[in-house]
Amino acid sequence: MTRILAIETSCDETAAAVIEDGRHILSNVVATQIELHRRFGGVFPEVASRQHVLSIHPVVRQALNEAGIERVADLDALAVTMGPGLAGSLLVGVNAAKGLALGADLPLVGVNHLEGHIYSNWLAADGLGGPVPDDAFPLLVLIVSGGHTELVLMSDHGQYQRLGGTLDDAAGEAFDKVARLVGLGFPGGPAIQRAAQEGDEQRFKLPRPLQNRPDHRYDFSFSGLKTAVLHLVRKLEKEGEDLGDARLVADLAASFQAAVTDVLITKCAAAVAEHQVRHLCICGGVSANAALRAAAESAFGGLNIPIHIPPIFLCTDNAAMIGAAAYYGGAYHGDAQNLQSAKGLALDVSASLRLSTTQKDG
Ligand code: KG4
Ligand code: ZN
Repeated sequence: MTRILAIETSCDETAAAVIEDGRHILSNVVATQIELHRRFGGVFPEVASRQHVLSIHPVVRQALNEAGIERVADLDALAVTMGPGLAGSLLVGVNAAKGLALGADLPLVGVNHLEGHIYSNWLAADGLGGPVPDDAFPLLVLIVSGGHTELVLMSDHGQYQRLGGTLDDAAGEAFDKVARLVGLGFPGGPAIQRAAQEGDEQRFKLPRPLQNRPDHRYDFSFSGLKTAVLHLVRKLEKEGEDLGDARLVADLAASFQAAVTDVLITKCAAAVAEHQVRHLCICGGVSANAALRAAAESAFGGLNIPIHIPPIFLCTDNAAMIGAAAYYGGAYHGDAQNLQSAKGLALDVSASLRLSTTQKDG
């Protein structure tokens, strides 16, 4: 039995979790800073790091208490997000983890946040399709978060081949920017989803960028889509439409959400067909989106490709996924002996860390 205390502070959530054998969540505490950043309309980096400094100790304490761990030394290892993310935020988590590892003489594993999102699908929780089974490879992963949109092929634990990704804005970023454009709040994803519920997705025809481009088969571009919404809004205002009209905003939100969902599902379907994967995973904040979840289920259910999307609380940033990734990913592959050799006391943060790919990227 291997128990890992994981810490995540890459953006605006201070999070700690205790994970057993890479799959079982003994505790999962997330202190969100959404209210703090709302008045800025986005995450304010310095405010975020200062709040992490205040929250990290109580959050770690609560995670240990809820897991019934009395002393840090009773754990087997520590894990912490080392990047990508906001450098000042990452530093708070990394330094806290180093202090705990040093004090209890435990190994410390530095985890890539993207690998964390991927392994959110291995946690024993009630998501769409349930947790990924042990023999799921080859497996396709779509990561859709606030900072990243990537299609990744996995041949084994920790073995990644990047098929493509966004050329400009990430999907979550597009949700946030379009929400601001049409006067919805921060964070934009949940606000667009809420507004879209009452909307008509057929009302506005928005572009599906890079959808029929053989040279960008697995790439995405969401900046053009955001600009298309901007031009549409200006045109509507010129025509005397009022953005205060809830019906209009609902139709805009629904049409935008449909365009994003359509592009994401189409590209996944092409990759599933070409690479003959056994399973498909979707993860990251945008995978919380109800329209995307429904579209994925109906597109792949019929193809007999098991699809896995975590429950909502594991889609957005959390530390449970970091514990799962520390156990399965990187060089450890679920082997507790390997974990013991982690040399985390020397690790540094990396704001633009990429997923380390083992094969030539496609
Ligand atoms: O993975 P995440 O929590 O943080 C990053 O690693 O970036 O993703 C945050 C992103 C934000 O852009 C947010 O608007 C989006 O996920 N998001 C959603 C939904 N919930 C969160 N986007 C669409 N629909 C949602 N329900
Ligand atoms: Zn994230």
